[in-house]
Amino acid sequence: MLTKEMVKKLNDQINAEYYSANLYMQMSAWCDDQNFQSFAKFLRDHAGEEREHMERLFDYVLDCGSLALIGQISAPTSQFKSLLELFKAAYAHEIEITKQINGLVDYALTHKDYATFNFLQWFVSEQHEEEKLFKTLVDKLELVGENKRDLFFMDKDLNRTLSESGLLTSED
Ligand SMILES: [Fe+2]
Ligand SMILES: [Fe+2]
Repeated sequence: MLTKEMVKKLNDQINAEYYSANLYMQMSAWCDDQNFQSFAKFLRDHAGEEREHMERLFDYVLDCGSLALIGQISAPTSQFKSLLELFKAAYAHEIEITKQINGLVDYALTHKDYATFNFLQWFVSEQHEEEKLFKTLVDKLELVGENKRDLFFMDKDLNRTLSESGLLTSED
């Protein structure tokens, strides 16, 4: 049984995860448009993961006998000056989501909602991984610099970069 306030907070997080999915879809379109095909695929796959996060919260609210609500979702940013700027924005977004998750965890604990506190632990670990993932990509892009040819090869080599850093979760 969730309190009204907790339902509201979880529904807000459903909205935030949905926004994340849309943001990464939009970023994927930007990469595709700039011919960074591997980055485009990476971001598109990541958008799918964000939708799964949304559904995880959605199902939890329903399982607790409350009404999951999808609110209005604002349009994501679509213009970026460079691939580095795009990934800096993605990394900053993940840090923001971590703050939101931490706020939820804190609320659950101080209000003795131990079931929700326990449910949220998965998100705590997930945010740790996501921050690591986007930070790694920002660092690599900073190393590569603005040279188009180098960026072209980084795009071609993206899967190897990710697997060497232990960040590739799927087979693709
Ligand atoms: Fe997420
Ligand atoms: Fe995320």
